[in-house]
Amino acid sequence: MHESTNNGSRKHWWQTGVVYQVYPRSFQDSNGDGVGDLPGILGRLDYLQGLGVDAIWISPVYPSPMDDFGYDISDYTGIHPLFGTMQDFDRLLAETHRRGLKLILDLVPNHTSDQHPWFRASRASRNHPKRDWYLWRDPAPGGGPPNNWLSEFGGSAWAWDEQTVQYYYHAYLTQQPDLNWRNPEVQAAMFDVMRFWLDKGVDGFRVDVMWHMVKDDQFRNNPVNPDYTPTMSPYQQLIPAYSADQPEVHQVVAMMRAVMDEYPERVLIGEIYLPVDRLVAYYGTGNSGAHLPFNFALISLPWDARQIARTIDQYEGALPPEGWPNWVLGNHDRPRIATRVGRDQARVAALLLLTLRGTPTMYYGDELGMQDVPIPPELVQDPWEKNVPGLGFGRDPVRTPMPWDGSTHGGFSTVTPWLPLSPDYGHTHAAAQREDPASMLSLYRSLLALRRREPALHAGSYAPVPAEGNLLAYIRQWGESRLLVVLNLGPAPALFEAPGIGTAGDVVAATHPERSGKRVGEGIALNGNEGVVVRLAPS
Ligand code: NOJ
Repeated sequence: MHESTNNGSRKHWWQTGVVYQVYPRSFQDSNGDGVGDLPGILGRLDYLQGLGVDAIWISPVYPSPMDDFGYDISDYTGIHPLFGTMQDFDRLLAETHRRGLKLILDLVPNHTSDQHPWFRASRASRNHPKRDWYLWRDPAPGGGPPNNWLSEFGGSAWAWDEQTVQYYYHAYLTQQPDLNWRNPEVQAAMFDVMRFWLDKGVDGFRVDVMWHMVKDDQFRNNPVNPDYTPTMSPYQQLIPAYSADQPEVHQVVAMMRAVMDEYPERVLIGEIYLPVDRLVAYYGTGNSGAHLPFNFALISLPWDARQIARTIDQYEGALPPEGWPNWVLGNHDRPRIATRVGRDQARVAALLLLTLRGTPTMYYGDELGMQDVPIPPELVQDPWEKNVPGLGFGRDPVRTPMPWDGSTHGGFSTVTPWLPLSPDYGHTHAAAQREDPASMLSLYRSLLALRRREPALHAGSYAPVPAEGNLLAYIRQWGESRLLVVLNLGPAPALFEAPGIGTAGDVVAATHPERSGKRVGEGIALNGNEGVVVRLAPS
C-alpha cells in the first residue's frame, strides 16, 4: 500500500485549494436574454466566496458560432457578446482577485471553429500558407475517407471539402476542425493566445481534450474494439490507438508548461480521459507536464466501495514523485453525481471528494444536490444528442440553470432560460438551502471550511484503512493531527471496526447532521448512506 508522506514543503494554491467549475451559460443571466454571462458571474462572487471555494474555472466565453456551445472557437482572444465584453472580463478578473479567488480559463487548442480565420484561410486553397495548420488528407485509394477514424460525436471523423477536394479531420463536430499540432506555426500561435490571457493575469488554463492533440503521423487505421456493445457511444467501436494519446503529445504539453512557467504561480490542468497508468504520464518528468491531469476516476467508475478503494490506491501508487493528485466529481459532460448515486449518497460523495488527498474539482450546482433535468426533444440543444439521439449521451440535462431562489426562473434570469430549470427548483434553490442546516449546501459549506482549516485535509498524507463491503475508510494526517474518514457507500447500516488503529474520537464532519460534534467509541455503527470524519486522539 502506498502511503503519502508529509514532506513539509510549501504548497501552491492549486494544491491546497478547491476548484469550482462554472458553466457560464447557466450560472447567472444579467441582461435578460435567458443565457448566463460574465456580469452574472461577477454578481455571484459573494456566493462563491461564502461557499468557500478557491478557484473558479469558467467554460469557454470566446466568440463562437456555438455549434458546440463555445468549444468551437472563432477568436481565441475575444469575448462573445452573449457573455459580455472584454471590459466585463477584466472586471470579473479584478473582482475575483480582490476576493482572494483565482480565475481559470478554458483553453481549447485541439480544434477551432470552422469559422475561425485560420481555418477559412486553410480551406481557401491547397497551397495557402495556412493549409498545413489543419489535417488535410486525400481520399483513400478506392475513394472515401482516408482512414477509419471516428468522431467522438458520431460518424466519420473526416469531412469532405468540395472546393479543394480533400478531407479534413475533426475529432468532434465537422464544425470543429482539428489543428495540426506538429506544425510549429500552430504551436507559436496558440502559445501567443496563452500569453495574451496570462498577461492579463488569469491564473491558469483547463486544457480541453489534451490527450487528443497529436495524432499518428502515418494516419494508421484504429483497431476494432472487441468489447464494444451497442449501449456504448458509437465512437467506442474502435480503440483510438492512433488518433489520440500519441507519445509526441508529451512534447506539446511540455511546451505549454514552459509557457506557463514564464509566469509565477499559474496552473496547467489537462482534460484527459485515460486509464490511470496512461493518465499519470501527463505529469511529465520533472516540470514538463500538466500540474493537474484531471483524474476522472470518480466520474467513470461504478459507485462501488471496493473498486473506488482499489483505484485510489492504484492512483496514489502511480503518481510520479512530484505529482500532486486531484479528484473530479462532476462536469458539464457527464451525468450529475446526485442523479448517478441519489441525493442521500451524494452527501457521502461530497465527503469523499473533500477529504481525499489532492485538489478537488466540483461542478456548479452539485453543492445544491442538483440532478439531471430531463429535456423534452423539442428543447434539445446539445449537438451530441442531435447526432446520436436517444442513446443517453446528451449533455443538456447537466447544464441547466442554477436555481438561486424561488422566484420565476429561479433568480437565474428574467425570461425563459435557454434550458429549463429543474422542476423541483422551488424548494431546492440556494436561498432555501442557505437557511437549512441540514441542506446539501450547508454540508458543502462546512466541509469546505473544514478542508480549509485542516492541514491534514488540504496538505496531509493519505493512508488507506482496511474496510469491507460498502465501506471505504482512510486516514488523513498532518503532524500529530489524524482524521479518520469512514464512508458507507451503500443504503444498509454497517458496522466499521479498525482493530489496531482505533476509531474513538470526535466527529468533526458528517453527512447526518445529528452526528456532528458527537463522540464515537471503538467501532462506528453507520447508517445507510452515512459518512463521518473523526478526529482521532494523537497516536
Ligand atoms: C471536451 C469538452 O468538455 C466538451 O464539452 C466538448 O464538447 C469537447 N471537449 C469538444 O471540445
